[in-house]
Amino acid sequence: MSVLLTGAAGFIGRHVAIALLERGEAVVGVDNLNDYYDVSLKEARLAGLQARAGFSFERLDIADREAVAALFDRKPGIDRVIHLAAQAGVRYSLINPYTYLRSNIDGHVVLLEAARRLPALRHFVYASSSSVYGGNRKMPFSVEDRCDAPVSLYGATKKAMEVISESYAAMYGMPLTGLRFFTVYGPWGRPDMAYFSFTRKIIAGEPIPVFNHGDMRRDFTYIDDIVNGIVNCLNRPPDGTERQHRLYNLGNHRPEQLSDFIATLEKALDRPAVLELLPMQPGDVRETFADIDASRRDLDFSPTVGIAEGIPRFVEWYRRYYED
Ligand SMILES: NC(=O)c1ccc[n+]([C@@H]2O[C@H](COP(=O)([O-])OP(=O)(O)OC[C@H]3O[C@@H](n4cnc5c(N)ncnc54)[C@H](O)[C@@H]3O)[C@@H](O)[C@H]2O)c1
Repeated sequence: MSVLLTGAAGFIGRHVAIALLERGEAVVGVDNLNDYYDVSLKEARLAGLQARAGFSFERLDIADREAVAALFDRKPGIDRVIHLAAQAGVRYSLINPYTYLRSNIDGHVVLLEAARRLPALRHFVYASSSSVYGGNRKMPFSVEDRCDAPVSLYGATKKAMEVISESYAAMYGMPLTGLRFFTVYGPWGRPDMAYFSFTRKIIAGEPIPVFNHGDMRRDFTYIDDIVNGIVNCLNRPPDGTERQHRLYNLGNHRPEQLSDFIATLEKALDRPAVLELLPMQPGDVRETFADIDASRRDLDFSPTVGIAEGIPRFVEWYRRYYED
């Protein structure tokens, strides 16, 4: 198996790369190491990958057509693509909308265009998001649900990636799968996400912003469970007998109340949090909850790590990384 992995210096990309390398697969990692958050964390993730056999790295922007086409020309043996590079984050899409268009929409089309010419392509798996469900009230969120009313530009670009993928499957018969991730957390995580910034603030004794006065529920999904879902999916391309483009939820199927999540973090840090209660933010949703029946059935996806186990693992990594 020869895998092109975009977003390799990112949080999920780093863990997926390790899982593949440990199975003996060859991984070509791609990332532009942009400064949306601390670049040194991306560099540290990448340094860990570059120390491993089977990994090679290309620093480029996935929206750069010439650079991507030249890379695919140099690597005609690539048979699988895992496309995770994106401008992530709901709130930042209110500040810098254009970067979402470039990375998430232009970048996706550039990769699809390059991948459709690969002679050996078996499967193209890409990251979508629970954000596509917008303010849907029906719980749990099912891939069968209508979701064309996103409440953030980020969610809109992820939905656009799905619709564009559908057209590529129809036009070229490309085997494509979109995975809607639900609030992924764990070691080497993303500093812009709440669990990460809460940790930093609780340690510093600073107040943590609690939106919608804490009335929020999130289906927190531990990174190892997500990685298993991605790798299982990679090995199960659409078989050509049905639709060539499929969508699945990858979530824990267990929404946690924000207050319980904060209490778990306080316990793991052995420090109390100071709460700053705030109204709901534009772009945010009150609850996420993944229906994973189809992912269990087709991808053998079976999340096992709850926050009682996952948060202490994150905190242990955080202290080792920042405090040792
Ligand atoms: N972490 C979550 O909770 C979560 C939830 C839902 C969906 N997702 C999706 O999963 C994927 C991975 O997320 P993550 O949490 O690892 O985020 P991340 O920001 O840590 O990783 C994304 C990586 O992509 C790179 N990148 C961004 N734009 C690029 C471009 N134009 N060219 C090349 N590289 C570029 C970034 O430098 C970064 O290293 C993203 O597509 C994200 O939208 C994540």
